[in-house]
Amino acid sequence: MSARLVVLVSGTGSNLQALLDAAADPAYGATVVAVGADRDGIEALVRAERADVPTFVVTLDDSRDRDHFNDRTLTAIESYEPDLVVLAGYMKILAPRVVERFPTVNTHPALLPSFPGAHAVRDALAHGVKVTGVTVHFADAAVDSGAIVAQEAVAVRDDDDEDSLHERIKVVERRLLVDTVARLARGGYRIEGRKVVLP
Ligand code: GRF
Repeated sequence: MSARLVVLVSGTGSNLQALLDAAADPAYGATVVAVGADRDGIEALVRAERADVPTFVVTLDDSRDRDHFNDRTLTAIESYEPDLVVLAGYMKILAPRVVERFPTVNTHPALLPSFPGAHAVRDALAHGVKVTGVTVHFADAAVDSGAIVAQEAVAVRDDDDEDSLHERIKVVERRLLVDTVARLARGGYRIEGRKVVLP
């Protein structure tokens, strides 16, 4: 049986595309049943529509307040009965009751706990690190702080700027996300404190 994925996005959606491409093969073990966004008019939604995957958009502007935004987002996610929710470049912070309702993973373009937040690539470059990378982690109540599922390093080059480094990170990120989601979708993982043990 294929695991049901709801993927949340805010931008280009290249990570979403990697999941859609992988899931086109029934052997992958997971299917993207819906794509949700916090804004309209983004490339990620076009990618979902092209793949015939249902979409929903819940914006903060159209909500009474953050609580209402979280309620509406959770209702939309619940309606697709996911086994796993994937935050793939989704830029809103969701309330704990939303990310704790279903197993939820986030992909982050740095080696957490270094450089959490929305400008991870810029912050890593500004710090002068020689190695950064990608983290796939469970989402929890705080920002970029949940138990780490998988990480992979990316070397920083002397001539990197934010765009060149982010592009190289994203190549690794897409592969790591696709691989990690497949392993989670198979089930049988354990969370021991902060340690995630994959099958
Ligand atoms: C990814 O690097 C993600 O980790 C970060 O924003 C990027 C989104 O890329 N938060 P895309 O929309 O999947 O192309």
